[in-house]
Amino acid sequence: MACGIIGVTARKSHGASSRIAEIVKKGLEKLEYRGYDSVGVAAIYDNKIVVRKGKGKISEVNRRVKLDKVLGWTVVGHTRWATHGAPSDVNAHPHIDCNGRIAVVHNGIIQNYVELKKELIAKGHRFRSETDTEVLAHLIEEYLKEGNEVFQAFKRALRRVKGSYAFGVIVVDEPDKIFFARRDSPLVIGVGEGMNFIASDIPAFLEHTRNVIIVYDGEVGFITSDSIYLEDESGVPIDVKARIRKIDWTPDMAKKEGYPHFMIKEIHEQPRALRDTFRGLDESVEKASELILEARRVYFVAAGTSYHACLVGDYLLNVLAGIPSLSMISSEYKKYRKSIGEGDVVIAVSQSGETIDTLMAIRVFKENGARVVSISNVVDSAIPRESHYTIYTRAGPEIGVAATKTFTTQLLVLSWLSLAVAEKMGKLGKGEAEKLRRELERTPSLVSDIIARYEGVTKKLGEELVNSSNAFYLGRGIGLPIAMEGALKLKEIAYIHAEAYPAGESKHGPIALVEPGFPVIFLVFEDEWKRHMLGNIEEMKARGAYAIGVIPEESDFIEERLDKAIVIPKLEPIVGTIVYSVPLQLIAYYAAVAKGYDPDKPRNLAKTVTVE
Ligand code: AGP
Repeated sequence: MACGIIGVTARKSHGASSRIAEIVKKGLEKLEYRGYDSVGVAAIYDNKIVVRKGKGKISEVNRRVKLDKVLGWTVVGHTRWATHGAPSDVNAHPHIDCNGRIAVVHNGIIQNYVELKKELIAKGHRFRSETDTEVLAHLIEEYLKEGNEVFQAFKRALRRVKGSYAFGVIVVDEPDKIFFARRDSPLVIGVGEGMNFIASDIPAFLEHTRNVIIVYDGEVGFITSDSIYLEDESGVPIDVKARIRKIDWTPDMAKKEGYPHFMIKEIHEQPRALRDTFRGLDESVEKASELILEARRVYFVAAGTSYHACLVGDYLLNVLAGIPSLSMISSEYKKYRKSIGEGDVVIAVSQSGETIDTLMAIRVFKENGARVVSISNVVDSAIPRESHYTIYTRAGPEIGVAATKTFTTQLLVLSWLSLAVAEKMGKLGKGEAEKLRRELERTPSLVSDIIARYEGVTKKLGEELVNSSNAFYLGRGIGLPIAMEGALKLKEIAYIHAEAYPAGESKHGPIALVEPGFPVIFLVFEDEWKRHMLGNIEEMKARGAYAIGVIPEESDFIEERLDKAIVIPKLEPIVGTIVYSVPLQLIAYYAAVAKGYDPDKPRNLAKTVTVE
């Protein structure tokens, strides 16, 4: 899970101004998907630090404490997802030192905060919150007392901290600066005109500038309204001009463009996201396939939806290339500490590129000598930077917490990669591989058609599930990971307890749960399992299940056994994974909306999980 931080420092305009606080509040709104149980801002004005913060969503807290009316030209802000200390006014960031001359916002976890807090209390520091973050403010205060100038005090404090962080710090002694540092948690700099930004993510300041510097792990520095100072872990200054990238995301791409939620916008964006992901795919797959061909063993590692994408890639490497690959869930990586090493290739899939479980896993496997190939949607994010090679999906910013377009573009990359490997190994004739690539090139239009044809049906299906507290998603072969993904979507945004099973497994126990009206969603691909799936449908129907099927055309013998059918053109299974995912996304989305939930901000979840 994650928080969102933002900092803005601007040239002094005439007279007192809350203009910067307004920019900060708007930026926080763009970061709310990263965590939203409390929010706050701090500004330097008239040689003082003013803090306004509270528990609740930004709109609620702003109504109470007027976040956007704070005066000052150096302002930091934070939207929180609790890791240490329950959501509360006092635990909301920013956190200050004893004398209110230092304010800190933080995304990440200070692992050793308990011992630091004890040490600081023994020195007389008074803490206000239960958070880990607050220790940084008092550490800086301590090193300032020892006579260090601010930046040195900040760096000395950082050297005491173990854990993950993106820090934004303001200090009254240097009112035109925002100090920052990054380790494991995302941090970017926005380079503006007479105004500079730091933030956890680009959409926070995108409407003000598209010139961005990605801060790398271990880097530390400060911004003023007209300058940026950055140095690496060993204190060597970095040429920031060389690090500026122009981001081609327009501000609108990160906005909803008229859709009610980011999630439905991103579902509809999938044809474009898939088209964009084809761009440069051949070259990037070329290098990755070479690494796989040289590999002793091939492993996949990921969390959540990305893990489901791995299962598809894993399935394809086995059935197309005859490679006995294995998939693991990131947080279970320790099982392979001894078995993965020299000569192995680990494929890490992470749309955010910041999932700490996946990051920790690849660090260990790299140390053991394995080569890491990552697939990510965020350029320069932590996992790609620590990989030997990265293939980027080009889905554009995914703001909805539930992964949609990043999932289907991951499937496209993994399918393209598996075809390249199988072809180079001679396991697939050139013609056969070409044929499947041509089929995959149809996915943008196939997805457009399915959305156009079935959005109404899936909306109704979602609404019918409103009163269900359970559901099964059944699939076989390559359909099983897609069933797992469909079940996760219904769980994470409509809070319906959905389970996916191999259809062949359902009679080994799970079917005991089925009673009249129990919804079961069957994924029937145009493959060798099609007839078996009919058997599963019959079994479930015999127990009164409400049977929904996503099935291929010309399967009347199946359709007549179903209560509801979503009929997909006959597709190669490698193409079906992408196309079948879309109706499942829509069903979950409309179930959530029908239940009155906000699909973009599901409870207890945040977009990026940066705590282990
Ligand atoms: C999926 O809808 C969830 N948002 C979550 O399971 C997510 O897939 C998981 O946290 C992995 O994220 P990543 O792809 O950024 O590593």
